[in-house]
Amino acid sequence: MLTSLILCMFVLVSMACVYTTSASSLSLKVGFYQRTCPSAEAIVRNVVNNAIARNPNLGAGLIRMHFHDCFVRGCDASILLDSTPGNPAEKDNVANNPSMQGYDVIDEAKKQLEARCPQTVSCADIIAFAARDTAFKLGGINYDVQSGRRDGRVSLKNDPNQNLPAPFFNLQQLQKSFERKGLSVEEMVTLSGAHSIGVSHCSSFTKRLYTFNATNPQDPSMDPRFASMLKSKCPKNPPNNVDHTVFQDLITPNRLDNKYYQNLQNKRGLFTSDQTLMTNPRIVSVVKNFGWQGNVWANKFGKAMVHMGSIEVLSGLEGEVRKNCRVIN
Ligand code: HEM
Ligand SMILES: *[C@@H]1O[C@H](CO)[C@@H](O)[C@H](O)[C@H]1NC(C)=O
Repeated sequence: MLTSLILCMFVLVSMACVYTTSASSLSLKVGFYQRTCPSAEAIVRNVVNNAIARNPNLGAGLIRMHFHDCFVRGCDASILLDSTPGNPAEKDNVANNPSMQGYDVIDEAKKQLEARCPQTVSCADIIAFAARDTAFKLGGINYDVQSGRRDGRVSLKNDPNQNLPAPFFNLQQLQKSFERKGLSVEEMVTLSGAHSIGVSHCSSFTKRLYTFNATNPQDPSMDPRFASMLKSKCPKNPPNNVDHTVFQDLITPNRLDNKYYQNLQNKRGLFTSDQTLMTNPRIVSVVKNFGWQGNVWANKFGKAMVHMGSIEVLSGLEGEVRKNCRVIN
């Protein structure tokens, strides 16, 4: 914090300092690379746009990657480190393997950034930029992203277990999980709207279809027609144990929009962790408001992403700027 204040005194653009001090994290600021690598954000945006043009679902991976990075050891790109002999990494936790997508997109951005500005732009910032660029490309949601994160040197396979919420969590468990990271219930509801894009493996929700509890094989909080449709895509005993994927939003699977909140009101949330939001009257009114006014949600989504992007960040001389996002220097 002291370093950032001192830095501010030398930066003539005082706006940057206002941002620095008013933001949730004192150590990050918008436009951190303005002098050291002016094209940094443009390079990332270009790589992300090309990737999404090839495969729209990669965008979903990039937004989810930012979440899974920030909730585990803070936003320090620990999710990008490859496992090494004797040290299995976060990447290989079931929360990420095999479902996480987009690692190659980050690699491509890093490659181009290293060619232009060697060892200047952190991998943690690349993830934050890529998530923002996806929100713009797939949702038209525009927000300034702070930067100045540094990369961590540790990634442990078991860390996600205690830090990431699971799809079978109930409201109380979800609330606790987000609270521990300094995020409010409303931010949790707001960020869950990201489930309007991308896919899920059947294994993340089949319990709700076939083995819910002793009295109900099927989760009564799910629309039975929606359940039938899901059952047709996710058989109880799939041949060769293949884990198929389904779109999280059937109608606009690659559009980051407020459909998620309309789906919840129609008992068409995919996970228990989605539908459980409808069990609390105060949250129901938030869901209704977001379902009704997409622009209200979109605006809050940007703000919540910025807040999430400030969780337990390394800055200043902490950590390092990796040369290759997959290995520590
Ligand atoms: C509230 C707690 C949350 C839980 C329990 C949860 C759980 C999950 C699960 C189980 C999947 C499917 C993985 C699979 O089986 O393939 C998924 C997908 C996804 N999640 Fe979440 N999530 C949560 C919050 C978030 C947040 C905060 C974001 C981002 C802001 C997010 C973004 C996504 C995206 C974009 C996908 C689709 C990924 C793809 O298509 O590659 N989720 N989530
Ligand atoms: C099964 O779930 C329903 C709906 O959530 C609930 O009312 C019922 O008490 C549960 N039964 C058991 C045996 O847990």
